[in-house]
This record gives sequence, C-alpha cells and structure tokens, in this order.
Amino acid sequence: TPDAPPRLTVIGTGYLGATHAICMAVLGFEVLGVDVDPQKVARLNAGDVPFFEPGLPEMLSKALDSGRLRFTTSFAEAGAFGDVHFLCVGTPQKAGSQAADLTYVLSAASEFATHLDRRCLVVGKSTVPVGTAGELTRLIQAHAPAGTGVEVAWNPEFLREGFAVDDTMNPDRLVFGVASDWAEQRLRDAFAPVLAQGTPVVVTDLATAELVKVAANAFLATKISYINAMAEVCEATGADVHDLADALAFDNRIGGRFLRPGLGFGGGCLPKDIRAFAHRAEELGVGQAVAFLREVDAINRRRRARTVDLVRELVGGDLDGVRVAALGAAFKPNSDDIRDAPALDVASTLHTLGARVRMFDPVALDNARRAHPELSYAGSALEAARDADVVVLLTEWAEFREIDPEAMAAVVAQRRLVDGRHALDPAQWRAAGWEYRALGRPS
Ligand code: UGA
Repeated sequence: TPDAPPRLTVIGTGYLGATHAICMAVLGFEVLGVDVDPQKVARLNAGDVPFFEPGLPEMLSKALDSGRLRFTTSFAEAGAFGDVHFLCVGTPQKAGSQAADLTYVLSAASEFATHLDRRCLVVGKSTVPVGTAGELTRLIQAHAPAGTGVEVAWNPEFLREGFAVDDTMNPDRLVFGVASDWAEQRLRDAFAPVLAQGTPVVVTDLATAELVKVAANAFLATKISYINAMAEVCEATGADVHDLADALAFDNRIGGRFLRPGLGFGGGCLPKDIRAFAHRAEELGVGQAVAFLREVDAINRRRRARTVDLVRELVGGDLDGVRVAALGAAFKPNSDDIRDAPALDVASTLHTLGARVRMFDPVALDNARRAHPELSYAGSALEAARDADVVVLLTEWAEFREIDPEAMAAVVAQRRLVDGRHALDPAQWRAAGWEYRALGRPS
C-alpha cells in the first residue's frame, strides 16, 4: 500500500550513514545498513559505534534492542530489502587535486543498482559537486534490471559532528531535491516523524538540492575567514578582534555564530568542500563567481602559519629544542576527528621546526598518535605542560577552559601561553603571571 512506511537502507556506514541509520530506526523505521567493510558491520551489529559521537552509542543500543536495525555487507540483501535507499558514501578530496573524489559514490551506486528488484527511490546524501545527481540517475538506470523504475532524489545532510544525533532528530530544515511527485511523496513518507514536528521542508530540483549543501558550508567557512581576516587587520593596528566580534554579533543580521576568531576551520567537510566547490564552478565556467573561496581558504591556512609564528615570537625567535605543551588535537571539541585538524597541523609544524611537542587531547589522542607518531603524548593537560617553555591551546575543549592558571604555572618552566582558540580569559591568566598571546588581540 502507498501509505505503509517505507523500509530503508543506508549505503555506507561512516559518520553520516551510521548516524542516519541509527536515528531512522529509533524513529520507528525498519532499517538495513550496508557497508563493504566487514569489521565496521560487525562492530555496529555488536552495538559498538566505531567513532566518538556523544549520545550515539545509547541510540544504537536502543535501535538494536527494537529489532528494527541491522547491518550487512550484502548489496543483494539491501536491494531486496529497501523501498528507499540512502546513499551515504564518502566524497573525500581527490589526491593531488582540489576536486571531490566520486569513485566511491559511483562504484557503490552502480554495483548496488544491479540488485534492485522493484520500483524504489535512491536518495543521495553525500556532499557532491553539482550535477552528480544527474550523472547518478543515468548510471543507476543503466545498471538496474529492466523495468525496475528506480528514481534518484537528493537530500543533503547538515549534521555537525558532536551534535549529530540532535541535528538528525531535530534538523533546522529538510531539503528534498526531486524529479517527480512520486519521489517527493516517498521522501515525505521516509521523514514523516521529523516532518510531524513541524520541520520546514524545501522541495526543489536535484541540482538546487546538491548546491544547498555546498553553498551552506561555503557560507559558514566564509564567515569564519571573515572574522579571521579582521583579526589580521586588528593585529596591524593594536585593535582587539575578540571585542570586535562581540560587537558585530549584537547585530541580528550578522549574528555571533561561526564568528569565533582563532586558528580557523578544519575537519572532513569545510576545507575540502570549499575547494571542490571552487573547482566545480571553474568547470562550469563560473569560477569567477566563487573566486573569493580561494581567498577564504588562503586566510584559513594563514591562521595556522600565524599561530606557529606567535609561538616562535613568544619564545624569542628560535624553536629549536623548545618544549611545547600542545592542548588539543581534534579539529574541534566533542569530536575525535583529526581530519585536516588545525591543531595537529600546528603541532607537527612546530615539531618540524625543532620544538619538542607534547600533546594532550581528551578524546582524539589515539587517532593523533597513529597519524603523528613523531610527537609525544601526555595523559592530561597538566602532564603535557610539565616543564614546558610554552603552552599552546589548539582545540577549545571545555575542560581546558577550567584549567587553573596557578596550578598550571606551578608545573611549567615558563609562563607563556598562546591561546589559539580565544578560549581563555587573558586577564585571569595575566594576573597569574602568564604572558598571554592570541591572534588578533593586543599583547
Ligand atoms: C560542518 C557544518 O557545520 C555542518 O553543517 C555540515 O553538515 C558538516 O560540516 C558536513 O558537511 O558534514 P563540522 O565539520 O562537524 O560541520 O564542524 P563545524 O562545527 O562546522 O566546525 C568546523 C570548523 O570550524 C572547526 O574546526 C571549528 O573549530 C571551526 N570554527 C567554527 C571556527 O574556527 N570558528 C567558528 O566560529 C566556528
């Protein structure tokens, strides 16, 4: 019957796919997650979330207990199971290029399509260059058995790491890119519990839906680089970007979110998405329209170099043999993700310049150790700071804001601090005898 809730499959159980599959099962759908990685599938079936995300392990056990969620490596099983198939495969930056690598999406889709056995909807969620949905439609229709009547739709995902569960259960908006009324209705069925909460939905064409995602991430990246560009101007004039940002934020048209100055953006999304967007726009002959994104990227990369310079300046110009305590490794707090993490970039540059870096992060330490075995690691912030010549705060974990400047002063060799994230109160640290430095703030 047309009104029966659709059975859902989620293809690709990385960060996005695992979260989506788990949340949809908790919302009441029958869900089958598919991944080519048997280890990942086994861990998820055993109730073990393979990455750090607050609240998600509890949601996974709830979903598994309900009997509505399973994971498999079999595309054939998934083809037979689902009415709506969500494609959540990763689109990393292509090696040696600014473009997005679509190999995984295209190969997963073409293999999966051969197993479809009835009319169904394939819904892309991955972040892709505009035009990919059209290409996927042709590819899937070419590989699906004749007469299946498969359609493609686009439903971009806006979840943030650290808030993935809430962003999925209570999104700001849903975007449905569709080519037919039938596809729109199937998406409405697949999101019925979310729509019932009054979540706004924008129904549009495939290309617009693809673009919404990159346009949103590009806007957020631009906002961060804008305030960081102001930090550079502040530094040249002795002004304070922290107060400047506070004052701008009171204007509701500007708003204070994503206006925090400092070390800038990293992670698996913003940096690669603006590069892929600029690259795609050039391919389409409209590169000039988003040429500013190259500048957004350049400003952001300069933040890392400037942070290294600030450490160098603070220790008197020579980093050789200097003991650096690096607080934070993850690209942002409440995450163990170190992809394109500004913190690790700064720490490894300091190491290359001769500094002896000892790093602590509450959650991302194992990932950091694997990626950067050349650095030393400590079990706490105070342990990292022992005998340090300079302390550098690189990720604004809540526990770092609670550090007592007196307690840390007691263990370091020199009271020197670079606050890469504007997370600490300069007055409080200076009162405890620290030399406090931050990008865009007077020394
Ligand atoms: C980002 C977007 O915020 C999500 O909406 C999107 O769905 C996601 O990418 C994605 O494409 O999958 P995420 O990468 O989890 O989410 O992280 P953000 O919270 O956006 O932070 C990105 C970076 O910007 C972090 O390194 C953070 O430290 C930095 N940032 C953020 C600043 O430097 N200043 C700010 O004011 C805000």
